Formats: sequence, C-alpha cells, structure tokens
Amino acid sequence: MISVASAPAKVILFGEHFIVYGGKAILCAIDKRITVESELVDSATIKIESDLGTVTISKNESIKNVDSKFRPVFFIAQKILQQSNLGIRISIKSEIPSGVGLGSSSACCVAAARSISGLFKKTSKEEILKLALEAEKTVFENASGADTTSCTYGGIMEYTKNGTKNIDVIPNFYLVIANSKIIHSTSDVVLRVKQFKETHAEEFSLLCINEASLIEEAINSLNRNDLKKLGEKMLVNQTYLHKIGVSNESLDAMIDSAKSVSYGAKITGAGDGGCIVALVDDSNLRATLDALSKYECFSTKIDSIGVKEITP
Ligand code: MEV
Repeated sequence: MISVASAPAKVILFGEHFIVYGGKAILCAIDKRITVESELVDSATIKIESDLGTVTISKNESIKNVDSKFRPVFFIAQKILQQSNLGIRISIKSEIPSGVGLGSSSACCVAAARSISGLFKKTSKEEILKLALEAEKTVFENASGADTTSCTYGGIMEYTKNGTKNIDVIPNFYLVIANSKIIHSTSDVVLRVKQFKETHAEEFSLLCINEASLIEEAINSLNRNDLKKLGEKMLVNQTYLHKIGVSNESLDAMIDSAKSVSYGAKITGAGDGGCIVALVDDSNLRATLDALSKYECFSTKIDSIGVKEITP
C-alpha cells in the first residue's frame, strides 16, 4: 500500500519573531505544496528520498545520529513504525523553495505525518499537527508552532501559541513572493533576536506593544478587504522587523522595488535572507512582478485546504 499526502507552504503576513514572545501573528497558507509518498517495505530501514539527497537508515538508529536535513521525517517514521515490524520508503517532492521562510520544512513534517500515519489509520488534523510539531522541534527547539499550524489547516488565521482563530474572508488579493536566494537559519535568527531582546529590553517590549496593535488594525483591514490599509500596515511591520535586525540591504532593496507598485511589502518568516512578500490584486499584479523581475518571483493565492490525502 502507498499513502500520499501534501501540505501547503505558508507566509507570515504579520507577527514573525514577536510571536515567539507570546504575540499574535497572521498566517496565510499558499498554493505551493510539498508531497510525501510512503510505502512499507520488508527491511528494517527508513529510506528517505528528496531533493536534499537520499538516505537509508536502520529504523532503530538513535535520532541524534541522523543528519538534521532528514531528522524530522526520520523521527515521524520511527515513531509510527514502533507498532510494526516493517520498514518504510519515503519520497518527498516539493514546489516550495527550501530554507527561505516559506515553511518548507514545516510543510514537509505535516505532509510526512499525514502520509506515514495514513499507512496505518485515519488521523485527525490535530494529531497530525502534534506529531509534525514534535518532529520540527528535533531540529528547532524553540519553534512557535506557527508554521506547522498554517500548513496543517490552511487558510488565513490569527495565531498565538495558545490557539488559532480563522479569519473568514474571501481573499481579494494575491501575494507576490520574491526570493533573495540568501539561505538563512531560522533558529540562528531567532537566537539573534533573543539577544536583541536581552540587550534592548525596553525597546523590544515597546515594539511588542506596537506590533500587537498593528496586528489588530491589520485584522480589521483584512475583514474589510481594504488592501490599501493592509499594505500600509505591512510596511509599518517591516520597520519593526528592521529595528530588531532581521532585515538587510538586499531585502530592503527588494522591498523598495515592490512598494511603489504593490499595496505594501515586507519580509516573511525569519528574515536575514529568504523571501519578501508583496500584497497585490489584479490591478497591480503584473507591475509588481515586473518590478521584482530581477529576482526569482511568483504570485500565489491563499490555500484554503491545508494538509490533504491524495489517492495514488
Ligand atoms: C519563522 O517562519 C517564524 C519565526 O517567528 C519563528 C517561529 O515562529 O517559530 C521567526
């Protein structure tokens, strides 16, 4: 039997980094997916094939000996296979650029949790999320859970570490995403922000307050489909991200290129590299793609489905 599942990428529209310290974020799942296929095999091994390479590991190997690139998926497979004498072959295919803030590793954990557990039983989205987050934490201990939650449920949502709330609007916008191709490490950037927080305690706490009220205004604009206001707030959010040191000249230049033609633009995800996101509709989509044409860029719509099983 083969079990296949896919999960969407995500962008953080507002609230990255501040969310690690209890703030709210607005998350959007987008229509780029990662697909994981799994099949039980007779040998006691876990084989993982992906764009990052292929490994075959004993299913009893200690997790700490597994290359971090494969560790979360290995973790999920090992955990689920406890109930079986068999091994597994896992194949991962992705439309999501990796390491650039679009949640590729979270989407991979979510799709893998769905695909592998599907070999044995039906599993709820809540259980998938729990397993995927546990797996993600094998490489990024402080993960807030935002990315895995967005990839699991899809749509647009308000997110805090204590819960989520759907923002039930029919999106009248697209997101243009441009990739700086500067690979970053989310955990390193999160650590740097922690140091900023410790050395600039007062400034950081003021920024948290400002970010919180900005997000409430942004939710209001989203509910009213007011793209002009929403875009302005993205630009304000970018100034806060700049202050905590997660932007850089390359990202600033990309945002400058996008901001005069789109409704607004900002970093999405950890920053330090990765992607920027610009808010557009039919009236300025082409002009924004043109303005960003010297970068790898593409337009996306909101994914409203989240993780899904695929009939092979
Ligand atoms: C990374 O996509 C978002 C961060 O806020 C980290 C996290 O929420 O785990 C930077």
